Amino acid sequence: MIISEVRVCSLDDVRRLGRLIYTYRGKAIALFYHDGKVYAFDNRCPHMGFPLSRGSIENGILTCEWHHARFDLESGCSFDVWADDARVYRVRVVDGDVYVEIPDLDVEDRARILRRLRKGLEHGVQLLIAKALVSAIYSGLDVDEIYRASIGWAMERNIAWGGGSTFIVSTRNIQGYLDSKGLITSLLRGLSILSGEASDRAQRPVLDTLAGSSTSLPRLKSWLRHFAEVRDSFGIEVILASMAFHGYGIRDIAEVFFSVATDHYLSDGHVVDFANKAFQYLEAILGKPDPNVLRSLALLLAEGRRYEESHEWRHPVDLVEIVDEESGRLAEVFRSGGDPIDPREVAGLVINGDPRSIAKGITGFLEKDFDPRDVALGVALAGAQRIAMFSSSNEIGDWLTVLHTFSYANAIYQVVKRAASHEVFRGVYHGALKIYLDRFLNIPPFKIPNGSPGESKEKLLKSLVDLLNRRYMIDDVAYVVADYIANGYEDEDLLRTICRSVAREDADFHTMQMLDAGISIYRDLRSDAHRKIVLIAMARYIASQAPTDRRTSQVADIALKLHMGQSLHSD
Ligand code: FES
Repeated sequence: MIISEVRVCSLDDVRRLGRLIYTYRGKAIALFYHDGKVYAFDNRCPHMGFPLSRGSIENGILTCEWHHARFDLESGCSFDVWADDARVYRVRVVDGDVYVEIPDLDVEDRARILRRLRKGLEHGVQLLIAKALVSAIYSGLDVDEIYRASIGWAMERNIAWGGGSTFIVSTRNIQGYLDSKGLITSLLRGLSILSGEASDRAQRPVLDTLAGSSTSLPRLKSWLRHFAEVRDSFGIEVILASMAFHGYGIRDIAEVFFSVATDHYLSDGHVVDFANKAFQYLEAILGKPDPNVLRSLALLLAEGRRYEESHEWRHPVDLVEIVDEESGRLAEVFRSGGDPIDPREVAGLVINGDPRSIAKGITGFLEKDFDPRDVALGVALAGAQRIAMFSSSNEIGDWLTVLHTFSYANAIYQVVKRAASHEVFRGVYHGALKIYLDRFLNIPPFKIPNGSPGESKEKLLKSLVDLLNRRYMIDDVAYVVADYIANGYEDEDLLRTICRSVAREDADFHTMQMLDAGISIYRDLRSDAHRKIVLIAMARYIASQAPTDRRTSQVADIALKLHMGQSLHSD
């Protein structure tokens, strides 16, 4: 940090006037004389930028004139958490002249940014979080530091992994499609959800690991399976944290976790979906197993509602029995790798088949040595197809049903890519049969449009954004996307427009999962026909949730204006 020491005024002047403003490289510094001492402040109130030089001083406390935030004159620390601490500068008086040490005002110090972020999360002050994000991004701080600091903060509280952490990891997965404002807004939304969850959820005591034990991984897996079966969240937590403590790698731990997590289809797929995000966090952001992150999965695994307990999985056809029958054959037919298969062949089977033919067909693909990853990708494509063909005559709330299934199908596909085993692969049957169960939401099916060329790219992207400003334009956006694809325009620009449109909204974690899952499988699909289904599914789902109040975006705007030195008040 570059520091300049500048002479700002004479002691006599500030003593006589009580306060004055000195401008250094376009930045205003407020000087106050109080109780025989001189104090120097950044003149912009840290809350919303009002000139502090207009504040009142009493008994060593400076009070801002606008929202009355109070600051200690010595340190600049605020008595009001929502206002943040003011920036103060060291003052020296030499031979009747006042000198102020001024650091480079445009660069925020990393420790200060992270402290501000933590404070915002702890107290649930969205503007404080927004300011930390703006400072981080404009100071060139590695954004992964924000991901690590915020999720690390939540994990220290030993709360279950939830929508907030999931939202944040999904933002990381799509951040290449966001501009700085979009990234700030999206992260702000995720961090606000995370902060709310941390204050709402009970903090659990942290249990010890099996520190002196050298238990093998297969034994740990059998214990984990037993504890999960009897819903013993404490036993689960000890095993998960111990695996990290004993130095097992992320992949091994993932295989153990997901083998057990696929013993049942749990909680509309949320358990596997959330856990997939937690493992993505370990792999892509942290780079190592973390006991606290693994602990956060214990409650999910213990408390997940099992599909056997659900009527729809039992009647009129017992789907659980079908999964059991087919997965019994997996140990024999499953192997990692194999020949490629067109995912649309798999998707066609899942969309059109009956439960038994779907399950047997999936096993059949493995028997024919097709790659299990391609089979799982085909099931995820079928999940996207349900959304692309979602009937507008359904209730709006039913979008969540197809979203959950697609998001789960994508999660299990990511899991199969990461740590394939015959046990984990059972999750693919769960996804396929859940897509079968959702078939009534495609009656009558929305017909995926062919699209027609002719319109300019700019006009089509603008139409898409305009439609997303209006309520429930689910079919109209599909026509625009189809026209865009029919013109052969760059898909990346379309994805950027979709992601930036969502970043404007007060999106919930489901919408972010839709983006994340859509883009993940989009990248792995090899043909344009497959990709079109995914793009239309994404656009339709997003249109079903837009527009929102866009409050998060407004808070991000305030933080950005403050950072740029723009005025939020007028005289
Ligand atoms: S308290 Fe100073 S701007 Fe709000």
